[in-house]
Amino acid sequence: MPDDESYIQSLFAQRMGGDQFGKDTTIYKFEKIKRAKRAALEANPDKELFDMGVGEPDEMAYPGVVKVLQEEAAKPENRGYTDNGIQEFKSAAVNYMKNVFGVNGLDPDKNVNHTIGSKPGLAMIPAVYIDPGDVILMTVPGYPVIGTHAGFLGGEVVNLPLLEENNFLPDLKNIDADILARTKILYLNYPNNPTGATATREFFEEVVEFARKNKIIVIQDAAYAALTYTGKPLSFLSVPGAMEVGVEFHSLSKAYNMTGWRIAFIVGNDLIVKGFAHIKDNVDSGQFSAIQKAGVYALNHPEITREILEKYRRRLTLMVGALNSVGFNAKLPGGSFFLYVKAPTGIEGGEEFKTAEDFSQFLIKEMMISTVPWDNVGNYVRFSATFAAKDSSEETRIMQEIKNRLSSVKFVF
Ligand SMILES: Cc1ncc(COP(=O)(O)O)c(C=O)c1O
Repeated sequence: MPDDESYIQSLFAQRMGGDQFGKDTTIYKFEKIKRAKRAALEANPDKELFDMGVGEPDEMAYPGVVKVLQEEAAKPENRGYTDNGIQEFKSAAVNYMKNVFGVNGLDPDKNVNHTIGSKPGLAMIPAVYIDPGDVILMTVPGYPVIGTHAGFLGGEVVNLPLLEENNFLPDLKNIDADILARTKILYLNYPNNPTGATATREFFEEVVEFARKNKIIVIQDAAYAALTYTGKPLSFLSVPGAMEVGVEFHSLSKAYNMTGWRIAFIVGNDLIVKGFAHIKDNVDSGQFSAIQKAGVYALNHPEITREILEKYRRRLTLMVGALNSVGFNAKLPGGSFFLYVKAPTGIEGGEEFKTAEDFSQFLIKEMMISTVPWDNVGNYVRFSATFAAKDSSEETRIMQEIKNRLSSVKFVF
């Protein structure tokens, strides 16, 4: 190894694995899925692969949104840094929270800040609150970003399992007192990725009480909040007292088919928003004004989300029917575009699946159906309603074909 390479290897921070960075040969979940897909396609070049593992919309943003970006991108006044965001976006976010979630009384200057997608927003929060030894409570299975960054700063991640028998809500009543004494953040995500569970108003009321009693801030990741199938979408901030203890991250990624546009916002408690804005100001210089303005158009047209939602509802209903016809126990989720179902333990007279990953690999290799396995708390697979299909008749054809493939064996549960 050349000398200069060896000294670079020795400089990696401990949080990156120190001088062992890049030497870990473990193949992680998403890489395994990618490799299995590639191998399945090579082995069956003429067979259609159905990708039910995708975590983002299969369609592009609506034409009205695209048109605003086109027009605004051509204006010289939109060229510069936007720092912590333009006023129109903050005001549109406040109106959106009122119109869609019934959250009143937000001040665009104090309670809102845009972010370049909610992922970097979540990544920045630990820098505001976490010192070495501080605890963040995270629900698992889940979206890990905020916990990863808390760990980078010497924080301790304590996982709260999401169990089906508890409707995938965490048990806040049985956390050790010494953990609670060190806890600064409770991270929640409802509607939940991957379980599709929604929170109830009663649960959010319990969260407010829990946070107040234990002097904890609540970060509620609302990336799927507007995609709710049962009744009106629910915001944590609509619960009395929530504004005193927490914030929500809302994103246009899933609700408006805008994943690549990178636009989201933090909303809620003014002091948390202020602390966040301070860190963000030292990390980036704001999203392109033309994208924020296209975001304003989107936020002013929540009927776009309602239309997208109906597409997912139609697809999820077909998926539930197909899976249940071959023995699964699938139910329409409360929200999101995910269907989270218990993995079978094997095939009658054939293979045994010790983990959901075993089952997921079997589905890709033998049936050309890609899913995402979750083995953190029980053995489940996630089917996503964002599979590529251009219209409802194609959706029906695909689901019929998936059903045919799945019924070629008898799964044991
Ligand atoms: C739970 C959850 N939070 C946040 C994000 C990130 O979304 P964004 O595109 O706003 O960064 C995702 C994306 O998959 C997600 O599933």
